[in-house]
Amino acid sequence: MIEVSALRKRYSDGTVALNNVSFKLDKKISAIIGRNGAGKTTLMKILSTQLMPTSGNAKINGLDVISEADSIRKIAVSIPQEARPVDYMPAMDCVKLYLAARGFGPKRARAAAEKALRTVGLGDAMDKVAYELSGGMKRKVFVAMAIASDADVIFLDEPTTGLDPFSRVEVWSAIRAIKGQIILTTHYMEEAQALAEDVMMIDSGKIFAHGTVDSLLKPFAGLVRVESSKKSRSSYRIGNTWISYMKKSTAKSLVGKDDVIKPVTLDDLFIKRGVNLES
Ligand SMILES: Nc1ncnc2c1ncn2[C@@H]1O[C@H](COP(=O)(O)OP(=O)(O)OP(=O)(O)O)[C@@H](O)[C@H]1O
Ligand SMILES: [Mg+2]
Repeated sequence: MIEVSALRKRYSDGTVALNNVSFKLDKKISAIIGRNGAGKTTLMKILSTQLMPTSGNAKINGLDVISEADSIRKIAVSIPQEARPVDYMPAMDCVKLYLAARGFGPKRARAAAEKALRTVGLGDAMDKVAYELSGGMKRKVFVAMAIASDADVIFLDEPTTGLDPFSRVEVWSAIRAIKGQIILTTHYMEEAQALAEDVMMIDSGKIFAHGTVDSLLKPFAGLVRVESSKKSRSSYRIGNTWISYMKKSTAKSLVGKDDVIKPVTLDDLFIKRGVNLES
């Protein structure tokens, strides 16, 4: 359970990355979505005790991120956005070493590492050193560490960025198999929709939507998204495309032959908020 109250982070150069956010995450898998610079990594770093907040407080399973950081580190693990394995170390050793640092004995570490590497699809690459792995495979080594750790709370900052669609699905099922509570960030709406019971959307350091996918999409019930090259009344601009929302029956009779009708997704919450997803 994650409980956050009036959390604020102002970096030394004056950037306010988190602006008084308050929320509770208690579902098995929660996804935090937001475009580049929204504040996701800042939030993940504070929750996983790698960064001090400027004010406010946050608790992980009842433990305070400032005064009880050491206790949190025993029950929580974090896979940072930029994490890459050490170049000359075999994938197996990377995971084993990580588990040893978390207190696993050698036998338990080997068995857990092997199982986790197989789960993420690296069964045949366990003995390859990191520089022989592709970018996506390197990312999977870290997902394997998180899976093998047996932690109560797991923070995954963009776990599937750079993975091909097949690998992404592979990692999704690995994430589903994790026992603890998972908080992940992603830029992929379909990832949040496929994985998370709870979705939190963040923009410019503020949370503007939070709930299940179904509850977030409720305002769009019965509507489709129409993408057109021409501006219409109450349309939103993304690059050279104008987007509007209407009933499917209306859309069919109204749209021009170059217009595209699409189902509504979580993207549309950003579009309605005026966030240009292309910038
Ligand atoms: N150490 C730092 N010093 C100053 N500003 C920072 C620092 N780290 C992050 N920021 C700023 O804080 C804001 C939020 O950054 P953050 O990394 O949390 O975004 P993000 O949502 O994770 O983005 P992305 O999707 O690109 O990973 C950005 O404006 C960023 O430039
Ligand atoms: Mg980030």
